[in-house]
Amino acid sequence: GAPVEVDIGTLAPGEMMVVEWRGKPVWILHRTPEMLASLEKAEARLADPGSKAPQQPDYAHNHQRSLKPEYLVAVGICTHLGCSPSKAFEAGDPALGSDWPGGFLCPCHGSTFDFAGRVFKDKPAPTNLEIPPHSYLSDSRLLIG
Ligand code: FES
Repeated sequence: GAPVEVDIGTLAPGEMMVVEWRGKPVWILHRTPEMLASLEKAEARLADPGSKAPQQPDYAHNHQRSLKPEYLVAVGICTHLGCSPSKAFEAGDPALGSDWPGGFLCPCHGSTFDFAGRVFKDKPAPTNLEIPPHSYLSDSRLLIG
């Protein structure tokens, strides 16, 4: 499939957009400072905080799993059985409890992921969400693929 070029110049902090790449939904989340801080809070509760599982690009091994800290670029398909967790849940969302640091919930079997797409422990999803190959053409142009 061809690479997909995306204009992220108007994506405000806290907003997420979804683009299609190779028939898959790719999320682009502009993380707020609070979302970035939540990544460290989540760390002790994650299955693979350093993304050691194979098939992750080199730039997915830091705790933000990204080239630029403020942008998460991830394939929005649950690594369990392929549902798409379509919505971000803020920290403390009543659906997830007062100690929820913020992230994503897969509605199919309850896997949860932080704002870097890292899966929480003891969930059905075996690995973190996939980070697709990507690069920045400029401050506002992202190339996926
Ligand atoms: Fe997401 Fe099963 S498909 S938890």
